[in-house]
Amino acid sequence: MTYQPTDLEAQLMALRQEGQQAITTATNMTELEQLRVNYLGKKGQLSLVLRGMGKLSAQERPRIGALANDVKEILKAKLEQKRVELQTAQIQAKLTAETLDVTMPGVYFPQGRIHPLNSTIDRILDIFVGLGYTVAQGPEMETDYYNFGALNFLPDHPARDMQDTLYLPDGNLLRTHTSTVQIRYMEETDPPIRVIAPGRCYRRDTVDDTHAAVFHQVEILAVDEGLTFTDLKGTIKSFVQVLFGERPIRFRPSYFPFTEPSAEVDVQWQGNWLEVLGCGMVDPNVFKAVGYDPEIYTGFAAGLGIERLAMVLHQIDDIRRLYASDLRFLRQF
Ligand code: DAH
Repeated sequence: MTYQPTDLEAQLMALRQEGQQAITTATNMTELEQLRVNYLGKKGQLSLVLRGMGKLSAQERPRIGALANDVKEILKAKLEQKRVELQTAQIQAKLTAETLDVTMPGVYFPQGRIHPLNSTIDRILDIFVGLGYTVAQGPEMETDYYNFGALNFLPDHPARDMQDTLYLPDGNLLRTHTSTVQIRYMEETDPPIRVIAPGRCYRRDTVDDTHAAVFHQVEILAVDEGLTFTDLKGTIKSFVQVLFGERPIRFRPSYFPFTEPSAEVDVQWQGNWLEVLGCGMVDPNVFKAVGYDPEIYTGFAAGLGIERLAMVLHQIDDIRRLYASDLRFLRQF
């Protein structure tokens, strides 16, 4: 009969030796986990060996028991040590793989820009919104009534001529100015009114460096009880001074069918008087057209061309550049 205790002892020592070696050579976490199950798991090798403990004498049992415990602790410690080792190596490998080379050239994303016409409109809107104005818009295709009739143009006014206005086959037309929005807005809204309307306009102009058949205007309208020419002057003055800075401006008498009195405003710009806008007190006939009582309400209106303004502000020499979609031009803004 074999001597059992010695046999168990030998088995435990072999297990210790073999287990330590296997753990040392493990190359990853999965392998390590397999080794743990294999040696220390419920059905692992250590448990298998310990099953023989029952056959030991009372004398031998504590000694072999202590040895078994030792082997368990040693293998456990070895597993833990290896786990830390593998984990550190893993983190190190990840760090190396993910290192960012900050000297590498970046990826260039082309950046969009605001078109100089839009930025000019935005600047004007900002100023008037700051003064409490509401932004409104109207259609580009209009009737004779909104473009002319309601704005007090007499039936034979030269502006209605085919030479100036683009008529559509159905008798409608493409609006020649944004003053149309004055009428549409007043029809829908009761006074008091503070409104600003930017938009596209059309005229049968021969295109050259200062004329385009399609262009932009901004319309301004204020209606209230007791508004006077002084309010008009004050508003226009503060607007022009925000846009151009503190500089001399002048009001020149002028004529528009829809305002009385009317004026054109010039601002001193690089040594010359530059015409910026047309304006005036709303003609009582316009109020009658929209059903406002001219005995109660007064108002002022102003209109300005955006292209000219953008050209002055950005020193653009030819209006056609604004529509050419030439990136070499547009990238300057
Ligand atoms: N509608 C005019 C034009 O196209 C500009 C204008 C002048 C508008 C005077 C106004 C104004 O509101 O009061 O030339």
